[in-house]
Formats: sequence, structure tokens, C-alpha cells
Amino acid sequence: MIRFTGFPRIFVLVAGLSVVICGCDKAEDIGRKVARKSGDLVGKGATEFFSGVGEGVDAVKENGPDVLTAISTRKSIRKFDPSKPVEDEKVEKMLRAAMSAPSAMDKRPWEFVVVKDPAKLALLAERLPYSRVGNGAKLAIVVCGSLDNGLPGRGKEYWIHDCSAAAMNLLLAAHAQGLGAVWTGVYPGEERVAAVREILSIPDGYMPLNVIPVGYPAENPPVKDKWNLSKIHYDKW
Ligand SMILES: Cc1cc2nc3c(=O)[nH]c(=O)nc-3n(C[C@H](O)[C@H](O)[C@H](O)COP(=O)(O)O)c2cc1C
Repeated sequence: MIRFTGFPRIFVLVAGLSVVICGCDKAEDIGRKVARKSGDLVGKGATEFFSGVGEGVDAVKENGPDVLTAISTRKSIRKFDPSKPVEDEKVEKMLRAAMSAPSAMDKRPWEFVVVKDPAKLALLAERLPYSRVGNGAKLAIVVCGSLDNGLPGRGKEYWIHDCSAAAMNLLLAAHAQGLGAVWTGVYPGEERVAAVREILSIPDGYMPLNVIPVGYPAENPPVKDKWNLSKIHYDKW
């Protein structure tokens, strides 16, 4: 039997091959203890994709890295090149990816506000400095959830799951197309919600989950290796 120590977050039921992901308040402490070896995670396709050299680079550049490479090489980008606007086709691919996400009972309770207006971007940057919109982003996408068009009753909170899945797809699609992005939290911060609601005229019944500034990266932080065996449990915690 294998025993794992620490503060586990992932529970694996081997019989049914179901994976239950559990949250943990102490996850951050453990995360700091995990070795960070970014190089291990970057596969051949990704190396070619980001360096622009090597065999097969054209195909990788055209189609983007494969999904596992994209997942393992994604990182938050918080500084953007203000001289390079994001092409509309790339924005559409990001939104298509977002809307491909799963949702509870397929309710798809998401809405997306694509912000390009420099005046609105400036307001977001001013009122939400942590959103990094002020760091050269020419574009931001705000993922919102419908509070009334998702599941009713006790299932109401599933909009958070649904919109998070959409936001994650959006981040991956940005990365796969050579763009940088970062998830910056809005909900449940009351002041943040109020600011975004006001700046973007978000109606009652819809909740901004996050602000995602997008642009061509103007920084290249290392990929974090978050693999941690102690967070995995087989058949029981
Ligand atoms: C719910 C949530 C809220 C976040 N809020 C912010 C934020 O306000 N500002 C920011 O710069 N990054 C924010 N981040 C990004 C995290 O800091 C980042 O994902 C984390 O440090 C891991 O780094 P990585 O994305 O490069 O793997 C947020 C991420 C999540 C999932």
C-alpha cells in the first residue's frame, strides 16, 4: 500500500476511475514545498512552439501545441506588449474554447464581455489594479455567470463551476495561440464586483467571475511544476 503525507487535494477512486478534486485551506503551504522544475514540463512541441526553432515548428505554430503540452506549459502572464493588438480571429478561438466547456446539465450559464475600449480598459486598470489590465493589455475578457439561467435551488452555485471551466478553456486557448493571459478574481469580492458591474454595465442577475487581461507576453516567467504525489489518494483518503 502506498501512503502519502501532507495536505491532499485529489481523491482517486480507482475502481470507477473517478477523480474527486477537493479543496484545502492549507494547499498554498504545500504548494511552496513542491520542487519547481519548469524544464521537466516543457515537451518538444512546446519548446519548438515558444522558441520558434526546430523540426516541425511550422505545424506546431499553425495548430498550437497539443492539449497536454498546452496545459503543462501554461502560466500566468501579467505584462503585455502594448504595441501588439490581439487579432479578432484569436479572440474568437478563445471564446469558442470557453463555450466548449462542460456545464451542469448543459445550462451554459456564461456570458463574456470583451473589452477593447481604451477608456474602459483604463477604468478597469484604475479600479482593479490587481487585474493587471494596466500592464499593457489591449484587451480584457470578463467571464460572467447568469444567476437565473443555471440550475435552480441548491444547484444555483454551479454557475461558478461552469464559468470556471469556461475561463480555464479560455486561458488555455490564449496560451495555445501564443498569447499571454491571467485569471484575476472578481467574485466574491464585493468591491471588485461593484466596480466591474459599474464600468461594464453588467445587469442584475449576472455576476462577473473574473477579469482576464490578454495580450502578447512582455515577460517570460518560468512554468511552475505543481505535481505533488501527496495530494493523491487511492480508494480512500
Ligand atoms: C481564482 C483566482 C484568482 C486569481 N486572482 C489573481 C489576481 O487578482 N491577480 C493576479 O495577478 N493573479 C491572480 N490569479 C492568478 C494566480 O496568482 C496564478 O494562477 C497562480 O499564482 C499560479 O501561477 P500560474 O497561473 O502561472 O500557474 C488568480 C487565479 C485564480 C485561479
